[in-house]
Amino acid sequence: METKILKNSKQDIALAGEIIKNGGLVAFPTETVYGLGANALDDEAVKSIYLAKGRPSDNPLIVHIAKKEDIPPLVKEIPKKAEMLIDAFFPAPLTIILKKSDLVGDTVSGGLDTVAFRMPKNETARALIEAAGVPVAAPSANTSGLPSPTKASHVISDMNGKIDAVVDGGDCEYGVESTVITLAGETPVILRPGAITKEMIEKVIGKTELAKAVLSEMGSEEKAASPGMKYKHYSPRAKIIIVDADKRTYEKFVNSKKNAFALCFEEDNVNIPKVVFGKENDDLSQAKLLFDKLRELDTLGAKRVYARIPNKNGVGTAVFNRLIRAAAFTVIDLNKPFTIGLTGPTGAGKGLISKEFEKLGFKIIDSDKVARKLTEKGSPLLDELQKAFGKDILENGELNRALLAKRAFENKEKTALLNSIMHPAIIEECKKQSDIPCVFDAPQLFEAKAESDCYKIICVSAPLEIRLSRIIKRDNISKEQAMQRINAQFDEKYYIDRSDYVIYNNGQNINEQIKTILEDIL
Ligand code: TXA
Ligand code: MG
Repeated sequence: METKILKNSKQDIALAGEIIKNGGLVAFPTETVYGLGANALDDEAVKSIYLAKGRPSDNPLIVHIAKKEDIPPLVKEIPKKAEMLIDAFFPAPLTIILKKSDLVGDTVSGGLDTVAFRMPKNETARALIEAAGVPVAAPSANTSGLPSPTKASHVISDMNGKIDAVVDGGDCEYGVESTVITLAGETPVILRPGAITKEMIEKVIGKTELAKAVLSEMGSEEKAASPGMKYKHYSPRAKIIIVDADKRTYEKFVNSKKNAFALCFEEDNVNIPKVVFGKENDDLSQAKLLFDKLRELDTLGAKRVYARIPNKNGVGTAVFNRLIRAAAFTVIDLNKPFTIGLTGPTGAGKGLISKEFEKLGFKIIDSDKVARKLTEKGSPLLDELQKAFGKDILENGELNRALLAKRAFENKEKTALLNSIMHPAIIEECKKQSDIPCVFDAPQLFEAKAESDCYKIICVSAPLEIRLSRIIKRDNISKEQAMQRINAQFDEKYYIDRSDYVIYNNGQNINEQIKTILEDIL
């Protein structure tokens, strides 16, 4: 089939209306994104929408209308709150879900007993619906799973040869799809955020919920409420990773990346290849550009993309909702002091692994070194240790480490006392030294309750025989003494269960393992 490119003229819109009336498919501009329209009352035509997009048949379509009088035939009834929203906003980037009438077929509604409808603000869209003389079912005019189209050229790139025509109406005003709100249940729930924000809606109808799936990955119990949310969405070929960080930290992080792109704001000082999606404090500018820029990244051949996290307020909720789906929920949180926590049982060879990370440009923060520094002659911590473990642990101001160890490891209570003095001071000092990216090398990471300070935790583990021989050599002690030290600790499983990743350090393919982990987390 040849896809006609139609102009935004009276004549062409009349032609487009004719095509829809006769069961054809026409893509058209709206104020949000381009829609792929068909006669909503013609089951065969509606089926061809699903086919052209490759869309799963249980994901319902929005029915577009040209005037408010077109609503009553589509629904069972119009509750008060729906009426209030219609009066306050229509025509607008707002879709309302109500119980459907029998006029709406099961193909449009994806088998649900509800219907989503909206009256677009865009005049070309309304003129086309008017010309078609029927309600127009229209999802976004992209191939299912790809970013929604905000320009006619996006539609052509996905739909050429699959649809009858596209009306070129220039760039879409908002760039993100309409807000979807359901009023079919007890409380109003926003299923998809858009340019009509929660705050704007609440001013009209009061308390309104935001579906959990809007900002986080969806649990199975929410699947029925918003079928569209469970499918892969807005994904370019490139892997998108959202970086949760302030401007300076983001800049530093991305500027250290090789073979990667930044998807950032105009203000960001980025010196790797970049694509800009709006201004930092201007959510509308971000919404308008996001989908176009996601497509541009593919055109540029980007493989790995680090996106600056948008502010989640106002229309930013919609921007973040689309971006986090494009990123398949991959977010690096650089607000944590430590990029990676490295821990594991004694003798597993953490030292060697941390050296490998150092070679890769990570700053290493060695908690043992910090602990030693904090107990050097003259340190205020020594007073506290003396109070807890006896005056004689200091000789001429120097800590007698062996004596302290003897007293502190006498029993569990004494050990806990030592930890309660040392751990907070160590963590505080380590945080002062932290930088992005850094590895926090801490055998007692869990005991010191530092998990929440680490973005991800890696446990280094090794076979018992190897650990034993390492400890014997390192500390110049007997096999029995080494075994005693191992038994005094938690077992390996304790560390593994609490870590995000494990490196098996038996001397083989260490670099491979590190590479795989870093590819996954950074
Ligand atoms: O801005 C827009 O809404 C654009 C333009 C073309 O109007 N259209 C659009 O349609 O984004 P689509 O199909 O890409 O997204 C519609 C969303 C989907 O997530 C779908 O699951 C949800 O609305 N939806 C439609 N009918 C529903 C219903 N009865 N119950 C729950 N969710 C529904
Ligand atoms: Mg869509």
